[in-house]
Amino acid sequence: MQTERRTALVTGGSGGIGLETVRGLAARGYRVIFTGRNLERLASAKADVEGSVQRAELVSVAADFSSLDQVRVLAAKVRELAPRLDVLVHNAGVWHQQRRVSKDGIEDTFAVNHLAPFLLTRELEGLLRASAARVVVVSSRLHERQRRFDFDDLERRGRYRGLYAYGQSKLANVLFSNELARRLASAGVTSNALHPGDVVTSIVRDSAWLSLGIRVASPFLKTPRQGAETSLHCATSRALAGVTGRYFKRSREARPAAAALDEGVARRLWQLSESMVGV
Ligand SMILES: NC(=O)c1ccc[n+]([C@@H]2O[C@H](COP(=O)([O-])OP(=O)(O)OC[C@H]3O[C@@H](n4cnc5c(N)ncnc54)[C@H](OP(=O)(O)O)[C@@H]3O)[C@@H](O)[C@H]2O)c1
Repeated sequence: MQTERRTALVTGGSGGIGLETVRGLAARGYRVIFTGRNLERLASAKADVEGSVQRAELVSVAADFSSLDQVRVLAAKVRELAPRLDVLVHNAGVWHQQRRVSKDGIEDTFAVNHLAPFLLTRELEGLLRASAARVVVVSSRLHERQRRFDFDDLERRGRYRGLYAYGQSKLANVLFSNELARRLASAGVTSNALHPGDVVTSIVRDSAWLSLGIRVASPFLKTPRQGAETSLHCATSRALAGVTGRYFKRSREARPAAAALDEGVARRLWQLSESMVGV
């Protein structure tokens, strides 16, 4: 009898680290649902993985995380498509040089990098619980520069600094992952955050200077495939069964910023996020 394939959902699977995470999970026999905003990029990513992994079972779904409604629609589609969800990789992320607002009028870095994965997780909680899933949250070492989570200027209406907005959103990723780990531990759901390394991708496409910097530094940076290794480790390593609420770098446990370990702040961020997404 053929056993049912395990299912994974990877957000931002249309390029960069996410695409290699999709490929790695498909190669390990997972049925992979993956997301991105653009239908052409999704189709090309699907063809690319199908060309390199035999019997890959892939489904792509378009969703723009700048819109909370689109996150809800995505969650509904995933619930239709997947009777189980063994792995959820929150990988989609943005960095903006100039302040932008989401379709819901929220500062876009926070909206895409934190609120969208928060809402998606809440919408899929039933599936995650039923499958005792592994949640993997792709943060960044740039969260380590943040001394505290800044509740006072969430909208970044003061002087906008892209790196600060990004670092704060990546701190939110680790706070969220840790709080999720505490809340879902009794259901056997695990949640771990990670830094993928410094990887040659298009994440700084907003800035010609940073894009040039990445091109110049590329021999010293990781390839997207290398960048996906820690995500794949957290998603699939047998050694990590039951391991939760941790932070990883180079597929090894590491210490996150002290600010990421504050349980009171994590609870406050959770409650604030609930009110912002309306759950
Ligand atoms: N590259 C690095 O050195 C590095 C370091 C630390 C952490 N990270 C983290 O790694 C993750 C992946 O980044 P990457 O470097 O691979 O970047 P990337 O090449 O720009 O890929 C980003 C992915 O996210 C998707 N995405 C972007 N904006 C979106 C939105 N509004 N709604 C839905 N999907 C959206 C993109 O899909 P589209 O096809 O729609 O554009 C793409 O699939 C991010 O969370 C990033 O913060 C990267």
